[in-house]
Amino acid sequence: MAKSFDIGLERLTGAGVPRIGVTQEGGGPFANDAQGKKPSLQVAGGAESTFYLETFGCQMNDHDSEKVAGVLLARGYRQVDGPEAAKVILYNTCSIREKAAQKVFSRLGELRPVEATELRWIEESKLGLGKSANLEIGVPRAEDAEQRSGGVRTRRLQSAGKIIGVLGCVAQQEGEGIFERAPWVSLVCGSASYRKLPQLIAELEAGNRRVTGLDTDTDETFETEITRRDNPFRAYLTIIEGCDKACSYCVVPFTRGPERSRASASILEEVRQLAEAGYSEVQLLGQTVNSYADPSARKMRFSELLAAVAEVRGIRRVRFTTSHPRDFGKDIVEAIDAHPTICDQVHLPVQSGSTAVLRAMARTYTREEYLEKIALLKAARRPISISTDVIVGFPGETEKDFEETLSLLDEVQYDNVFAFKYSPRPNTPSLKMADAIPEEEKGRRLAILMDRQREIQRVRNEKLVGETFEVLVDGKSRRENQWSGHTSSNRVVNFTSPEQELLGDYVQVKVTKAMPHSLVGEMVGRG
Ligand code: 5AD
Ligand code: SF4
Repeated sequence: MAKSFDIGLERLTGAGVPRIGVTQEGGGPFANDAQGKKPSLQVAGGAESTFYLETFGCQMNDHDSEKVAGVLLARGYRQVDGPEAAKVILYNTCSIREKAAQKVFSRLGELRPVEATELRWIEESKLGLGKSANLEIGVPRAEDAEQRSGGVRTRRLQSAGKIIGVLGCVAQQEGEGIFERAPWVSLVCGSASYRKLPQLIAELEAGNRRVTGLDTDTDETFETEITRRDNPFRAYLTIIEGCDKACSYCVVPFTRGPERSRASASILEEVRQLAEAGYSEVQLLGQTVNSYADPSARKMRFSELLAAVAEVRGIRRVRFTTSHPRDFGKDIVEAIDAHPTICDQVHLPVQSGSTAVLRAMARTYTREEYLEKIALLKAARRPISISTDVIVGFPGETEKDFEETLSLLDEVQYDNVFAFKYSPRPNTPSLKMADAIPEEEKGRRLAILMDRQREIQRVRNEKLVGETFEVLVDGKSRRENQWSGHTSSNRVVNFTSPEQELLGDYVQVKVTKAMPHSLVGEMVGRG
């Protein structure tokens, strides 16, 4: 399995924090129209329209799901916690690595409608009639038998009458093939076509059995009137969708389509609205966020946009991810220097420390050029926390190449590394590359790399003991007086304070103990 050195920073936001959102209970512009009727989905006898949405993958997917939820809420749907209670079940999928892509098919397997013979089998097994009774009604297909023996049976849901949709990267990649593999699916829509989602949903409501949105040749971005935000403390905003790079291992250019940037005025308006709604931290998102190209006449550069966002009244923290090293210039560091509200954190994926592997990956930079970008960050006026992504076991990666990646970790001294075993993906150029590395060897390299990085982080974090940081409190432990939050550098800090209510507050925390993936401290003041 792909493992990462996730300090838990990204994953922790949202998890363990209360979920608030824009009116989940039947709100939105369509909720009470002139006739006082909600448009409701024609399933299960016109019962209340409810949806369940499960998201896999990156922050872009998380945020897309917030927008998808917004579209549905605006049509009068109510969000529920599990697929059992939902009339519409949606999976927003990820296909960046094979394991992620497989997940959705196992979910869809759980939703395969139970056939009549199977129902009788289940009923009769409940009555304890056993094998002979089973023979009378005909033994279900071999795969069913396998499912039963594998214990999957217990997880199968009654999905008859429900609408099941696959969104995101797997939808884009597999297209209508999903209908063949899982004929009980009714909606397949890739992220490049999300603009069409309201229309597709309307078609389903009108009784259409199958609808698709699979175009990638679009210059549109997915903007919605209402976004149901999951994280009450950090608001995500996509500023650029798709990717025009062509890294040889990556499915994203196929699944998310070409780069499309949002107009700067629209982004700034949304930031102002977020600030008015009480958000003080925003995170600008894009697969290559710093390749942002303002489509409007203002032609703002990414660094100018960053500065403009940082100047919005009420905004105290601005983050951005993910940056591509090729488009990372001095102007971004200058913007960070000039604006304390831009966080001390940059995620700059390197993928490999070997120029030969970088060339095979089509990353468009050498090790030395990457290190020049790191030098820019290290020359900033305040310390900037740097994190990266690494792929181990790319085809042809020699032991020497791998050692160059290890030496790069030593040289850069990252604060966090997300490391993955190379996973061959459909349509990508690297799929056909010679000298594949055996799984076992990939695993060995991953473990070595993680050990090395854990030690680097342990030592780096140790040096922070005794220092005081501003922390935005976003979690409360069940244990009394225990809180957690993030520093500007995106480090997780668990701390003690006898205060009654701190969620959403900025506080000063003095670090008393350091771990490789988090800090421990005590509150010493308000922010
Ligand atoms: N195999 C393994 N890791 C991959 N990534 C992207 N594609 C693949 C792949 N085929 C990793 C890269 C990227 C991160 C989001 O996922 O490190 O930066
Ligand atoms: Fe994939 Fe490369 Fe684009 Fe990142 S820059 S999304 S790794 S193609």
